[in-house]
Amino acid sequence: MKRLEGKTALITGAARGIGRAFAEAYVREGARVALADIDIARAHASAAEIGEAAVAVEMDVTRQESIDGAVAATSRAFGQIDILINNAAIFTAAPIVEVERADFARVFEINVAGTLFTLQAVARHMIERGIRGRIINMASQAGRRGEPLVAVYCASKAAVISLTQSAGLNLIRHGINVNAIAPGVVDGEHWDGVDAFFARYEGKAPGQKKREVGEAVPYGRMGRAEDLTGMAVFLASDEADYVVAQCYNVDGGQWMS
Ligand SMILES: NC(=O)c1ccc[n+]([C@@H]2O[C@H](COP(=O)([O-])OP(=O)(O)OC[C@H]3O[C@@H](n4cnc5c(N)ncnc54)[C@H](O)[C@@H]3O)[C@@H](O)[C@H]2O)c1
Repeated sequence: MKRLEGKTALITGAARGIGRAFAEAYVREGARVALADIDIARAHASAAEIGEAAVAVEMDVTRQESIDGAVAATSRAFGQIDILINNAAIFTAAPIVEVERADFARVFEINVAGTLFTLQAVARHMIERGIRGRIINMASQAGRRGEPLVAVYCASKAAVISLTQSAGLNLIRHGINVNAIAPGVVDGEHWDGVDAFFARYEGKAPGQKKREVGEAVPYGRMGRAEDLTGMAVFLASDEADYVVAQCYNVDGGQWMS
């Protein structure tokens, strides 16, 4: 028996990376999935590769009408939404004295407000239909503690953990479980960008920061998107019914809490 048979999911930022891996894993477990992304061309390509259980939906999590449109489009495609993964996010880095207000606003608009108002729109959808749904927010080890060059992104992910706790406590009365996953360092295009930031601010050669963070992981390497899919499937499954307002580290042993 597949663990998500008959379920439908909306995954934000699913055109590539971790979100796409989640979409593939959910389809393998019997779900139908909407890959929602601001990069709609790539979302279409990913959905086509995954197969007919996947559809692409255009979505910019910074615009309320786009959030509402993506919820409506997913609902039209599948009838309803049982699972939301709030995965879309951007990364930024700078020394504290160089942090720019516009950069801060953009990161918080996508990573924090995007998470909150997508969660809100889907929670309303679930409550109206009496759906005992699942919401999974993508946090990070960056939300567990600060980093010298990563103040804004770290703060945004700490906010995601806090929102997960408050929303989890508030929505469980409607039978909606809200939890989060905190990855460590996961290789992919996101980390290509992170590596470039450290090349700029720490004078490292391209690829050097990736090598260093991989060697520092207790498991012995950087994570891969596929390392996270087991937790994402578990949190969406019936087995996680009594799991409420938690944030799980899936990071090869980087952080213990
Ligand atoms: N990769 C890592 O090492 C790592 C570690 C910890 C946490 N995370 C978190 O995991 C999640 C996925 O990370 P990833 O590595 O796959 O990132 P990624 O950069 O590869 O993918 C992010 C996706 O979000 C989309 N996106 C960006 N802005 C958007 C917007 N306004 N509206 C809709 N979509 C938008 C992008 O187009 C992209 O497809 C993120 O929340 C990230 O913060 C990643």
